[in-house]
Amino acid sequence: APTRLSDYRPPAWRVDAVQLDFDLGIDTSEVTARLQLRRDDAQDEPLRLDGEGLELLSITLDGEALAPTAWRYADHVLEIDGARDGSVLETRVRLKPAANTALEGLYLSGSREAGFLLTQCEAQGFRHITFFPDRPDVLATYTVTLRADRERFPILLAGGNPDGTGELEGGRHWARFVDPHPKPSYLFALVAGRLEKIERDYTTADGHAVKLVMWSEANVIDRCHYALDALERAMRWDEQTYDRNYDLDVFHVVATHDFNMGAMENKGLNIFNAKYLLADPDSTTDDEYRAVEAVVAHEYFHNWSGNRVTCRDWFQLSLKEGLTVFREQSFSADMNSAPLKRIEDVSLLRRAQFTEDAGPLAHPVRPSEYREINNFYTATVYEKGSELVRMTAGRLGRDGFRRGMDRYFERNDGRAATIEDFLTALGEANDIDLSPNLAWYGQAGTPRLKARGDYDAARHQYTLTLSQHTPPSHGQPHKQPVPIPVKLALFGHDGRMLPLHLDGQAAAGETESVVVLDQPEHSFVFRDVAEKPVPSLLRGFSAPVILECDYAPHELALLLTHDVDGFNRWEAGQQLAARAFDALRDGGDDAAPVAWCDALAALFTLAELDDALLAGLLTPPGELELADRQPDADPARIHALRQSLLQRLASRIGAAALHARYQSLAAPTELDLGAAGQGMRRLKRRVLELLALIDAERAHALAAAQYDNAHGMTDRLAALDVLVRNQATQGDAALAHFRARYDDNALALDKWFMVQAQIPGEPALARVQALEADPKFTLKNPNRARALLGTFASANPSGFHRADGAGYVLFAERLAQLDALNPQIAARLATAFNGWKRLEPVRREAAREAMAQLLGRPALSRNLGEILGNMLQD
Ligand code: ARG
Ligand code: ZN
Repeated sequence: APTRLSDYRPPAWRVDAVQLDFDLGIDTSEVTARLQLRRDDAQDEPLRLDGEGLELLSITLDGEALAPTAWRYADHVLEIDGARDGSVLETRVRLKPAANTALEGLYLSGSREAGFLLTQCEAQGFRHITFFPDRPDVLATYTVTLRADRERFPILLAGGNPDGTGELEGGRHWARFVDPHPKPSYLFALVAGRLEKIERDYTTADGHAVKLVMWSEANVIDRCHYALDALERAMRWDEQTYDRNYDLDVFHVVATHDFNMGAMENKGLNIFNAKYLLADPDSTTDDEYRAVEAVVAHEYFHNWSGNRVTCRDWFQLSLKEGLTVFREQSFSADMNSAPLKRIEDVSLLRRAQFTEDAGPLAHPVRPSEYREINNFYTATVYEKGSELVRMTAGRLGRDGFRRGMDRYFERNDGRAATIEDFLTALGEANDIDLSPNLAWYGQAGTPRLKARGDYDAARHQYTLTLSQHTPPSHGQPHKQPVPIPVKLALFGHDGRMLPLHLDGQAAAGETESVVVLDQPEHSFVFRDVAEKPVPSLLRGFSAPVILECDYAPHELALLLTHDVDGFNRWEAGQQLAARAFDALRDGGDDAAPVAWCDALAALFTLAELDDALLAGLLTPPGELELADRQPDADPARIHALRQSLLQRLASRIGAAALHARYQSLAAPTELDLGAAGQGMRRLKRRVLELLALIDAERAHALAAAQYDNAHGMTDRLAALDVLVRNQATQGDAALAHFRARYDDNALALDKWFMVQAQIPGEPALARVQALEADPKFTLKNPNRARALLGTFASANPSGFHRADGAGYVLFAERLAQLDALNPQIAARLATAFNGWKRLEPVRREAAREAMAQLLGRPALSRNLGEILGNMLQD
């Protein structure tokens, strides 16, 4: 049966303090846990502790061995008789780290000989380590002692402050850590093995001396410097922006190549997928550099939004994740270009979250039920959750939001809180009732916002009528209206903004305003409007909705050319490109394609336009987004149509202009990792891709030369990608070279797999099959499995969605194999089927068949079973 939000009850038993002693070994490790218990007198419940796959060696209560009849261990629960308030329970269990392929609990990263031990506990990994009330509203102080062979495990780390080390007999040693901040079990972590470090002293704004330490295996420690710099920037930013200071004497960060997700904010001991920590120019792209900075900041920010204030239950996951993504996005916007960051974030939201919200896995930001919580670390909880915080922040304004956050931290420090607690603190600090925002948290689906403008020339009045509708989703046939803030401006025909005189709103004469639609429909009347305006709506993407507005192509072209809001300028281009795409698909009139190509061709020659923004403008919505615009989608056709739209654009700009622009951007003598250099490389790639559509021979020659002469991974990978995707003759040599050069660089090699998994259309499947036989391919490493199979299924629609269903069959078979090793990864990859109901009938049936067969297999995990079950529900 699923776990339900409405069934929440406070814990009957709490643990105030826990002592953990580990005797660590690769094949077996033993854990002794001493729990200081506290009982809630109002509840008359026996002591029940979570525990999965634990071999119980001994158990005592208040120092006495427990009679075998006084405890029962079944169905992942240990039930104990005779415990009282204040009792101390001690258990000793045995674990098998090297046999743990699920990478949850205590496991081995790397080889038996050279690898190291580490833990991953969120959400429910701690119960794989010891018996415990493994729920986030049980907060305890932790004293952790690690013991191990000194030669095999010279470094011993756990969360909290160091509290002594020493020698033991037989070449063994020990180290102790005490964490004075009460925390939930999901924030526990340890690491043990041969690791190298780089470190730096840091003093917090409130005067606390902290040692910052990055740890990794010896061969990659030189690639940790960028992350250490990013960490320092994040710490300063949180001090300056939110007055949040770090609170332990040490902050450890460890990189591993074997990790189920991006990174983990364990208190005082963050653990990172190497992909989000290691960076050097030779193997890291510009996008990856920014991702490292963002994820380092994200995990650091969790120290307050997540650790000091944690979640009452897992339904509140977005309380920490949505808020922390918002904080991370704000930080990245401050460190880099704010409009570009917004464009990237909204692109991701549309690609990952809108598609999720439109499919069978749609769920609210605060889900009401789950079977497997690990399936709810989703774009909806993270990305949409962040958009909800952003709307609240926008409503309160900079100072008001800060005041609200101060109140939130102050009220909830050391507590396990809810989303209501968050809105209450922010609202009360500003004398505003934010409870209407709760509607956003409880409803799945992306609201549609319809906008209609009427201009009354005689009265110089412009009436903007806004209405909203959220389509039904599973279990939610009828949706409530939600408060939608619409930031807007009105443009005159010359591309200038008109002053706003809006009835009932203060903003007289300003050129930008925010109106809030909190009903199904409402009309806003603007007075003294001198001409029929073109509205620029949802500026900065002020709400996560789908805007439906009957713009004429020339109106979108006007915004694309003149809007001063960098985001909305890009957005106008996206809308126009989508309209152009529809016109090509339906054989409609040519106005939209012509308007889009003409406007971009004109912008292409404008000197003052930022390179990175231009590159963004030259990129129409992706194939997944376009597929969402229609029922009965044929991914092969969508790919072809999108390519032909791009080809029209390339022809309109012209091969000569593209080539000239490429030359002007090419070959700087030094690698500039700053914004200007990144922008140049991004535009250069775009230009090369466009040129390849109309002058393949020349573009391929340029790409081959770019590959050979590249400074840094961004240019090298872009060139490789152009050659491989277009099946250029030079592609094989470049692939062979790349393979040899990066043979022992796992993260670079992942890119080698990814590039090939993205080859569009028919040839993709055979390539994927050939790569599965590569000696460097393994299902056991999540990054490698994602690089090949995840990329194929989620980022290559025309390759994966074959009409013959062969892509689905192969993928389903791999999911079954993967599920036996690592259920979390299998379930995550399976979400690639998400858009299946909008496929054309032949593919739809093939996808359904593949999923149904897979779901029928015996011994499927709860993780994969839940995803497939939801996928197939009607
Ligand atoms: N809390 C981590 C973060 O920073 C992610 C943990 C994901 N855990 C999981 N079981 N999926 O976002
Ligand atoms: Zn997070």
